[in-house]
Amino acid sequence: MMFSVRMRAELHGRHTSGAERLVGKDALEKTVLELLKRPKEYDSLNIKVETVDKIQKIGKALPVSSYRFRNCREARAKAVELLRSYIDETILHKAINTLSKGANPSGGNMRGALIMDIETGKRLEPDKSRGIRTILVDWEDRELVKEQLLSSGYTERTLDALAIATKNVRCGVLAEICWSDDPDYTTGYIASPSLGYVRLSPMKERGNPLGGRVYFVRKKESSKVIECLEKEAFLIVSL
Ligand code: COA
Ligand code: AMP
Repeated sequence: MMFSVRMRAELHGRHTSGAERLVGKDALEKTVLELLKRPKEYDSLNIKVETVDKIQKIGKALPVSSYRFRNCREARAKAVELLRSYIDETILHKAINTLSKGANPSGGNMRGALIMDIETGKRLEPDKSRGIRTILVDWEDRELVKEQLLSSGYTERTLDALAIATKNVRCGVLAEICWSDDPDYTTGYIASPSLGYVRLSPMKERGNPLGGRVYFVRKKESSKVIECLEKEAFLIVSL
């Protein structure tokens, strides 16, 4: 049996840090302590431990590539250029504009990803402020993959975001656009089964607190995809 260990922390009433691990019983205590120490500052921190009966394996993560641009206009144009053979340009612009304005209808960021119908651009997530969160995913050997990514010049953020994007594709997400809500982190990415995980820098201007994720899905598959994102557990074997 394995355990999903999920940590979330808040500062001044706002979500500031989240992380997840899937580990065996032998690593449980160490993992709880590691996640406890992860946020630098918080006024509330939750750690949830859940047993997971069934774990599926994903042999390889999406392949990673990177592009750098002078500004976010150029990076976003590249995102559209790469995805337009699969998704109508009007729909891609709608997705990017929605994220850049703050995709939460009550203002600001959502608490998860926006789900968009790949054919019509209609939003499909049942709760538009919450969205859908990809959980129950980790690396089989996190330390090894972390070392490999860091030695190739990537960050720990890539480790976590690549795991999420890889699970998303496995669950039937046909394309993803993401940039962080961290005002200091401007690199974003697009991901799809054929393009892999493509880092694009910068997807927003430094200092901008708005970010988010759009998952493109086929409407008739959306319930099944959401069920997989929220309920099925995956370990990724290697890069
Ligand atoms: N953003 C904002 N609020 C969040 C949040 C997030 N990412 N995750 C949890 N919350 C808050 C919400 O208020 C949520 O209530 P809701 O379900 O109505 O939205 C509440 O905490 C309870 O969340 P919970 O159901 O306990 O969280 P979870 O079990 O779905 O776990 C995390 C979610 C924290 C594991 C996940 O959000 C996360 O951070 N995963 C790691 C992502 C990562 O590695 N990111 C870095 C690279 S992209
Ligand atoms: P981050 O890359 O952690 O800065 O997150 C960027 C945005 O992605 C957030 O503003 C949320 O809208 C969304 N998000 C955060 N966590 C998840 C998750 N686990 N699954 C899907 N979307 C998420």
